[in-house]
Amino acid sequence: MSRTPGVRATLVTGASSGLGAEMARQLAALGHPLALCARRTDRLEELRAEIQARHPGHPVLLRALDVNDHDQVFEVFRGFRDDLAAQGHPLARVVVNAGLGKGAPLGTGRFDANRETAMTNFVGALAQTEAAMELFREQGSGHLVMVSSISAVRGMPKSMATYAATKAGVAHLVEGLRAELHGSPYTFTVLYPGYIASEMNATGPSATPPPLMASTERGVRSMVAAIEAGRDSAYVPGLPWAPLARVIRLAPLPLFRRLV
Ligand SMILES: NC(=O)c1ccc[n+]([C@@H]2O[C@H](COP(=O)([O-])OP(=O)(O)OC[C@H]3O[C@@H](n4cnc5c(N)ncnc54)[C@H](OP(=O)(O)O)[C@@H]3O)[C@@H](O)[C@H]2O)c1
Repeated sequence: MSRTPGVRATLVTGASSGLGAEMARQLAALGHPLALCARRTDRLEELRAEIQARHPGHPVLLRALDVNDHDQVFEVFRGFRDDLAAQGHPLARVVVNAGLGKGAPLGTGRFDANRETAMTNFVGALAQTEAAMELFREQGSGHLVMVSSISAVRGMPKSMATYAATKAGVAHLVEGLRAELHGSPYTFTVLYPGYIASEMNATGPSATPPPLMASTERGVRSMVAAIEAGRDSAYVPGLPWAPLARVIRLAPLPLFRRLV
């Protein structure tokens, strides 16, 4: 079925909540077979039931994955590739999405929190990129999508410092691959989300969301549009984040400190 033009089997990590779960919903609505992973497999089961209630028989494969278990990353990616192929759906895309937002100002005794963020968001993403590229190089094609962050645009202060550094790091991994493999049949997309409602930035049921926060549905629609178009990179949603990215990058330091 996925040999049908325009239908691309897509592996999404961190699919148990937030942006990953919503990407799965929206990609399924576009007809793409799915391979979804995360640690909370009960959430993945619920998501599969929801997707298949809306799209009966839609292929949704599930596996447990902790991206900090690097051997497991390679096993899960290869297993998904094989299981999708057995169903007639060659693996076409991998979305490196799993991540967390813990952090504390550097030098304040919270190396544990910053290390956990660095391991999950950078080393875990490196393992996912290695595993995806091994499969893509074997098959001679593939689309790698990296979920970075608007915070990658410039070094961020305080509790954002390590998180922003990991997100700049993962964007550079993909930029490096694009430079290396330019002109070959691979596609590389880096997404730079602004504030999009998810568990990571949940404000609680009674709190007013921050003014610039997009709904999960709207934010992810912008992410999926950029993925579908095979864009090199995209600030998502484009408004207000494409112009704001320029402001963040170019603002003089006194102004920048007031903004973040
Ligand atoms: N929401 C935003 O405003 C925003 C902005 C910029 C970038 N991002 C990025 O978007 C991505 C998704 O975040 P989100 O906002 O959707 O947050 P979320 O709702 O907290 O989702 C995070 C996802 O990552 C998974 N995850 C975390 N640690 C993992 C691990 N060790 N192994 C496997 N999976 C792990 C979680 O699954 P389990 O806990 O079930 O394993 C969950 O599915 C992250 O990379 C984040 O940095 C988000």
